[in-house]
Amino acid sequence: MPETKVTVPKLVDMKRQGQKIAALTAYDALFAQLLDEAGVDLLLVGDSLGMVIQGHDNTLPVTLDEVLYHTKAVRRGIKRALLVADMPFLSYQISPEEALRNAGRLLKEGGAEAVKLEGGKILCETVRRLVQSGIPVMGHLGLTPQSIHKFGGYGVRGKSREESHELLEDAIALEEAGAFAIVLEKIPSAVAREITQKLNVPTIGIGAGPHCDGQILVTHDALGLFERFRPKFVRRYAELATLIRDSCRRYVEDVRQGNFPSEEESY
Ligand code: KIV
Repeated sequence: MPETKVTVPKLVDMKRQGQKIAALTAYDALFAQLLDEAGVDLLLVGDSLGMVIQGHDNTLPVTLDEVLYHTKAVRRGIKRALLVADMPFLSYQISPEEALRNAGRLLKEGGAEAVKLEGGKILCETVRRLVQSGIPVMGHLGLTPQSIHKFGGYGVRGKSREESHELLEDAIALEEAGAFAIVLEKIPSAVAREITQKLNVPTIGIGAGPHCDGQILVTHDALGLFERFRPKFVRRYAELATLIRDSCRRYVEDVRQGNFPSEEESY
């Protein structure tokens, strides 16, 4: 793990050195600080915030201003990790110019060091435009949640020969367009391994098996905070929802019983 600040070139170098990349999502300064102190290499202000913070059913309602707000907060908590901000639905699909204006805000106003967008070949002109303007871009292929209505659900992508071939072509096209890393979400492990072997830039898997160059999870899933559903690929490292509920029950009980505050906790 690099001791110094993680940068885009350093992250690419980690693949060359065979060092696995550990990434998580963050949405506020306090969590960002804790995850940064834990040694996480890359923190993503994911549009998953629509689901785990805002309570929506999917990521589509999230706006650029909302991602910007959370990116500013996360920026204040980070010292070492690379900060990547997600481009929300319709902030980059309309035209490369609009994508550049919006991505620029995430760097200029939010303090992000890179942006992430969902999609393959169709977005290569946009990726090129951003990268040429000095904005590092992380791709996202496989189960791309902003296309949930096209897919009709959150099932595994890339299972058929045609789809896995298309994924590989998309990944190569993104790398050629200048993407510095690619998230591979919910695709078969063997497909992720082939893509990872063919690319020079790192792949960051989520539900894509162990062969990717790095892994990312939604922090609220990994810490057992988000309970609405739990994909098979999520490993829970804590049960914070249970801990919070139990702790708050004890607090409520103490207040009701007159056990809090005590004289020692008073002035
Ligand atoms: O929005 C998000 O959190 C993401 C990660 C799951 C990769 O895109």
